[in-house]
Amino acid sequence: MNYNKKSIEDVEVSGKRVLCRCDFNVPTKDGKITSDKRIVAALPTIEYLVKHGAKVILCSHMGKPKGEWKPELSLKVVAARLSELLGQEVIMAADVVGEDAKAKAAALENGQVMLLENTRFMKGETKNDPELSRELASMADLFVNDAFGSAHRAHSSTAGVADHLPAVCGYLVQKEVSIMGKALADPERPFVAILGGAKVSDKLNVINNLLEKVDTLIIGGGMAFTFLAAKGYCTGKSLLDAEKVDYCKEMMAKAEAKGVKLLLPVDAAVAAAFPSPIDAPIDVDIVAADAIPADKMGLDIGPKTMELYAEAAKNAKTVVWNGPMGVFENPVLAKGTIAVAQALAESDAVTIVGGGDSAAACEQLGFADKITHISTGGGASLEFLEGLALPGIACLEDK
Ligand code: 3PG
Repeated sequence: MNYNKKSIEDVEVSGKRVLCRCDFNVPTKDGKITSDKRIVAALPTIEYLVKHGAKVILCSHMGKPKGEWKPELSLKVVAARLSELLGQEVIMAADVVGEDAKAKAAALENGQVMLLENTRFMKGETKNDPELSRELASMADLFVNDAFGSAHRAHSSTAGVADHLPAVCGYLVQKEVSIMGKALADPERPFVAILGGAKVSDKLNVINNLLEKVDTLIIGGGMAFTFLAAKGYCTGKSLLDAEKVDYCKEMMAKAEAKGVKLLLPVDAAVAAAFPSPIDAPIDVDIVAADAIPADKMGLDIGPKTMELYAEAAKNAKTVVWNGPMGVFENPVLAKGTIAVAQALAESDAVTIVGGGDSAAACEQLGFADKITHISTGGGASLEFLEGLALPGIACLEDK
């Protein structure tokens, strides 16, 4: 896929009504935003549009309201935070493509900013309904997609609208694509990828695609146990994707044939049961990876594995990391994830963390500013690593 897309700097925005799709799908608790990272990440594009006299119509989804109007998923909280960050009013529409939104969009003056309600309040949004795409487009002269986190979704507001308007990318999409695209297409070597997370089945194509590109592939998290089972080890009560054992064997053979180093845990932190609640105190034993007792489950990588993985990350020139090494929500089982985050923070390599849990880990641990790039995309960055074309970017005009 061609990622060399036109950006906001390649088109005239002054005096234009610009529909700008952002990813304001931010976490909230008791009606308050708990991380405004995605709002902050959208600022450069919004500020550029304001400065250049565009009439800015922002839109986004939040959560999964599935076509229902759910007040707790209203974007009003986002409008309030954005207005603080921008230092100017963000006019909140009462609907998405209804009378209020259309009237407010028509009345915008150059440099003013408004926000439509949650696009997923509309049933057509996730179906990429052409009628909804047309309605959204009818409010604007230009479409800017800056929602990297939603770029893997072919929805009306992320892709469909581009059928009806000239469409370009914003700075965030441009930055994500250039940093991750360079790492995949032309990395400084050694290139090390670290994959974690619960299930092998969630990362099948990522593993396959990365084996074509990296010098070392490191596997941790729950999915490591399916690889250990493929090596013939007893994995006790550890999480096992039984149907994917053969796939893991295939990937190990592929790594060998390509001369890619595939690193698996050499030891693990094990316990009798999964912690419940997830952050409950837990007693763990450290055992060798080929000596997991039948009545125990692996819940994190062990200290020797941490050293091995940290060493590989420190000696790399490019590191891509996606997915925790253990049950990160539990302080006793977060050690592997912390060790990897720390190794990335201390490495001189270009370090890229694909969103979701590993991004949250780097932020919570205070390492975020020592990482070259933390993606704002969870699913989107994973699909990017799989080498898939992202519909929210594919629909934009080529340079
Ligand atoms: C995300 O949080 O990964 C994006 O906002 C996409 O959200 P979705 O998985 O609900 O489509």
